[in-house]
Amino acid sequence: MHAVELIQKKRDGKRLSLEELKFLVHGYVQGQIPDYQMAAWTMAVFFQGMEPEEITDLTLLMAGSGDTLDLSAIHGVKVDKHSTGGVGDTTTLVLAPLVASVGVPVAKMSGRGLGHTGGTIDKLESIPGFQTSLTPQEFISQVNRIGVGVVGQTGELAPADKLLYALRDVTATVESIPLIASSIMSKKIAAGADGFVLDVKVGRGAFMKQEAEAVRLAETMVQIGTLAERATVALVTDMNQPLGRCIGNALEVKEAILTLKGQGPANLTELCLQLGTEMLLMAGACSDAGEARRKLEDSLQQGRALAKFREWVEAQGGDPQITEDLSLLPQAKFRQSLAALKAGYVQEVDPLALGAAAMHLGAGRETKDSVIDLAVGIELKVGEGDYVGEGSVLAEIYANDQQRLTEALQTGLGAFRIGDEKPPARPLVYRKITAEDV
Ligand code: URA
Ligand code: CA
Repeated sequence: MHAVELIQKKRDGKRLSLEELKFLVHGYVQGQIPDYQMAAWTMAVFFQGMEPEEITDLTLLMAGSGDTLDLSAIHGVKVDKHSTGGVGDTTTLVLAPLVASVGVPVAKMSGRGLGHTGGTIDKLESIPGFQTSLTPQEFISQVNRIGVGVVGQTGELAPADKLLYALRDVTATVESIPLIASSIMSKKIAAGADGFVLDVKVGRGAFMKQEAEAVRLAETMVQIGTLAERATVALVTDMNQPLGRCIGNALEVKEAILTLKGQGPANLTELCLQLGTEMLLMAGACSDAGEARRKLEDSLQQGRALAKFREWVEAQGGDPQITEDLSLLPQAKFRQSLAALKAGYVQEVDPLALGAAAMHLGAGRETKDSVIDLAVGIELKVGEGDYVGEGSVLAEIYANDQQRLTEALQTGLGAFRIGDEKPPARPLVYRKITAEDV
């Protein structure tokens, strides 16, 4: 086999076989196929696309290219939730203990944030004492004991994807649905779950700006999961404004605790209930969506989800007292309100501008090596469609540096558009894609 023939085949719109993809992926990881040939192939895929079985072959080859996590020692069906990334997405912190509190195990590997997108591991590390690096044995025995565990990446998962993603980044081939879908699914499959509930974000603050492309990405990932014999469903959900009210690590932990107490923002609470419902159904814990939702609501109302959160925090070395005393979380030195310049309805709350402002405050990483400040961030006081008077508080900015605070007030103000008309309400969940749809 020669790489040039495989590039030519894809260039001409033909499907590569498993053997041919194996030759490319293994050859690339072993350094036998040079970047320029792999880049030519990714560009050919960009223009010609791939067949569902072909994408699945690629996904499984990448998933198997490095370490994989074996969760079979955990009792029950392990369902993982994955979000394609948004601003202020606090769902995992709520969903993991919520789903575990009704008896469905959650064994999750999460990442750190980069750019305007926050990472669950950084958020968890703002809990004093919380450890995110457990050995696989510690992780598995914790999930068997209390039903929940979230850890940072151990070992090297899907190194083929890591190499390929870096190559795509510098060859203008990131924006290819088969390549994005296989990239995400390869890492998920390597992390060992039996099934996946995917939260595919769409809108200004998301990777996919248009509903049609988000739906295509969701369909492709559901197709891969199904062909790879993992139960998979996807919800296409709104990211035209930040999810919930808080952006920033310790602030999002506070928001998660309030949500577990039933005092959280409506959109975050609702999304957790809908994703949680899919997880319960997939795990076979309920026979229909109504029953699943009732179980989750009961658990929230009766404090079982919050109790599970405390148990989880304690198991990973963190201080469970944070649920009773939020001041135990890292606190910023400065806090200043952002006030509306005029009265009217909030038309837009731009998640990209707020994500960037939070990042410049220190809540996110500008580069992979940046050190983040867990205490800083932004707490929104209004959302799309709310009426504000002149001078009303739009948001509170939390900072540890006066200069950065001043800059964040400027950028933050640009994130809000205020006008006379009440804007139409936007759905939180646009579509649900199941195996039957693909
Ligand atoms: N996220 C990924 O993990 N991979 C992609 O290709 C794009 C977004
Ligand atoms: Ca949030």
